[in-house]
Amino acid sequence: MGLYLDACAATPPHPQVLAAMAEAQARFWANPSSLHTPGVEAAEALERCRQELAELLGAPGHRVVFTSGGTEADNLALLGLGRRLKPGRLLLSPLEHPAVAQAAAQLQREGWQVVLLPVGPDGRIDPTDFGPLLAPPTRLVSIGWASSEIGTLQPMAELARLCRDAGVPLHSDAVQAVGQVPVDLGAVPVNLLSLSAHKFQGPRGIGALLLAPGLEIEPLQHGGGQEGGLRPGTEAVALAIGLVRALALRLEALPREGPRLGACRDRLLERLLACPGLRGSGAQGQRLPHHLSLLLRSAAGVPLCGRSAVRALARRGVAVSSGSACSSGRSSPSASLLAIGCTAAEARSGLRLSLGPWIDDDALAPLPGLLESLLPTLPAADPS
Ligand SMILES: Cc1ncc(COP(=O)(O)O)c(C=O)c1O
Repeated sequence: MGLYLDACAATPPHPQVLAAMAEAQARFWANPSSLHTPGVEAAEALERCRQELAELLGAPGHRVVFTSGGTEADNLALLGLGRRLKPGRLLLSPLEHPAVAQAAAQLQREGWQVVLLPVGPDGRIDPTDFGPLLAPPTRLVSIGWASSEIGTLQPMAELARLCRDAGVPLHSDAVQAVGQVPVDLGAVPVNLLSLSAHKFQGPRGIGALLLAPGLEIEPLQHGGGQEGGLRPGTEAVALAIGLVRALALRLEALPREGPRLGACRDRLLERLLACPGLRGSGAQGQRLPHHLSLLLRSAAGVPLCGRSAVRALARRGVAVSSGSACSSGRSSPSASLLAIGCTAAEARSGLRLSLGPWIDDDALAPLPGLLESLLPTLPAADPS
């Protein structure tokens, strides 16, 4: 597959996950709502997945709703809870994925006031600034655990405790964090948490929303009573089995793999920053261990087009991204880079490299030279 450095967009499914899903597809093909034995077996397998997922995230009492992925989990969280509450102020991180930002925009059309939280140049929310914003009329908060574009990890434990103390429900989009850093809801009192299996070598087409005990939300779709009435439709048992197996494998490897990838990333970053024209963006310390984000500049210091760099690298067999994969089809500047103080041109000069278990130092060795040789061939980034 050449050099694949786009783990934040998607990861190849783990071979053990594929094997578990093939077995599950053959064994638990029946409809889990059916009352006969094959149906009951499928339903039991699904319930085991629900329980295991909650336990893997330190949340044995949480309700698990399986969804089609992170986007649906985010929409179900924000719209499902927002429509149950009296409209008020919704505090939002400015680094959110469009799945959260656009769900919030929909709540705004329904009468909510959406306020973007201030972040520092590293993208972090300062708990001291955040606390006072929880006063009325704030009724809901959504903060991504880790930024897809610039890799920043938020101080979730402190932010979540402040929300809990203020009695304001907190949603966290943890799509980029789950499987990459420890996510323990026993220690971090998030009320709603979204995740997506294809970011940690699970199957595409499944994610989950975890809900704290006692939290009630509205469904977005209507139909049968599956997933506790919150996500009707015949459940994809084999996908749920794949999700849970992938996460279990990931978390088992994380104590070794997190530091190994972090060290690989640091060595790569050091070599990249030695190239004139390359600059790091986002947090240095508090960031996803497998994530590296750069701003590209010419020798004269002019920001260069990140999307052109992605295409040029792709022609040489290197897969990277110019930001969030879901927005790279559009030429608008990155909202996350703008939020940390970049100019419009700089916000179009971003390059994201994200590593996975298939990466080692040898695989990365040619990259700094290749990138350096490409810089003079790239057009300037649009400054408008
Ligand atoms: C932070 C974040 N949230 C949500 C999503 C959407 O997840 P999915 O592709 O599973 O719908 C992504 C995908 O890149 C993401 O990075």
